[in-house]
Amino acid sequence: MSRTRTSDVLVIGGGIIGLVTAWRAAQRGFTTAVVDPEPGGGAAQVAAGMLAAVTELHYGEQTLLGLNLASARRYPDFAAELTDATGHDLGYRRCGTLAVALDADDRTHLRELHTLQRRSGLDSEWLSGRECRRLEPMLAPGVRGGLRVDGDHQIDPRRVAGALVAACERAGVVFHRTWAERLDVVRDRAAGVTTTGGTELGAGQVVLAAGSLSGRLAGVPDDVLPPVRPVKGQVLRLTVPKRYAPFLSRTVRAVVRGSQVYLVPRESGELVVGATSEELGWDTTVTAGGVYELLRDAHELVPGITELPLTETRAGLRPGSPDNAPLLGPTELAGLSLATGHYRNGVLLTPVTGDAMAHVLTTGELPDEARPFTPRRFGAAALTEQPA
Ligand code: GLY
Repeated sequence: MSRTRTSDVLVIGGGIIGLVTAWRAAQRGFTTAVVDPEPGGGAAQVAAGMLAAVTELHYGEQTLLGLNLASARRYPDFAAELTDATGHDLGYRRCGTLAVALDADDRTHLRELHTLQRRSGLDSEWLSGRECRRLEPMLAPGVRGGLRVDGDHQIDPRRVAGALVAACERAGVVFHRTWAERLDVVRDRAAGVTTTGGTELGAGQVVLAAGSLSGRLAGVPDDVLPPVRPVKGQVLRLTVPKRYAPFLSRTVRAVVRGSQVYLVPRESGELVVGATSEELGWDTTVTAGGVYELLRDAHELVPGITELPLTETRAGLRPGSPDNAPLLGPTELAGLSLATGHYRNGVLLTPVTGDAMAHVLTTGELPDEARPFTPRRFGAAALTEQPA
């Protein structure tokens, strides 16, 4: 067994949430390390990268909406800063989103979403089917109406992940390309991790940012272990040949037979079609049924997709939490903070998470906008509290 140099901050997990935390920590002057066998991997390699605070609004998630909007507002500066730091093009496309309805039930659902959006002060415009097709001529003739949301954009998460690895390297972040096997706790304080190779990595502060794996790191006390579970998403990638461009000029999405389907067109010609949502534990098998349902639903929206080459099928694991919102900030174990549980919004929430975690590491507290997302909301006391 060997012991390596202690860093000020050790981040467990090198997905985009761990990387942005490490990058911001290094920028604040902390010596910073990341432990992950494959930095830049994880859910970002599968995600479509919709920055969809408005079209992914759900009843009961108004608090999360505030954080989503705060992060969406940061995106232009965040993307520019990351590109300046690395020279990487992130595929940030301010193209807006069109959410459409195919039948009367879908239309009712979308009208309700529109009401909720307006009540929440969000910009969203109701369009007839004809107006939808004027915007996106590839849409099926049967589209019955839709919501135009010009503020919901997209970015390429694979490029973001690659750029964050480069930005971290340039900022002096050390990468330990291995698994953290367990958290080491010394005198009631998180003191680092032991890797699968038996190396002890010491740190002044530890951040657990391992996505859906965060809920099962050995050594974390039971009452501190985040209640995070994997939620499988199967995603397809197609290619739009140049002769068909522009195939779609913005993200197009719908709820078809109760399932979300979205088509995200990149400037590169890639068309991402997602996603299933499956509670199947750690399974990441791409299934015939999953691919069939996505293609069937996407085809109902945009019949022309059957002409396109299908270039990739993949499944990833969203880190789901009990209230669909992330867990950010200090835990009841001194020295251990969390940045996990981002569920459907990991890419969108990357900028605000980086800023919030830098604040946590510097001051020991969450900034005001992130306070509702303290992991302590799921603590033993909170779970046993009864309404008066
Ligand atoms: N935010 C899209 C998804 O999780 O499928």
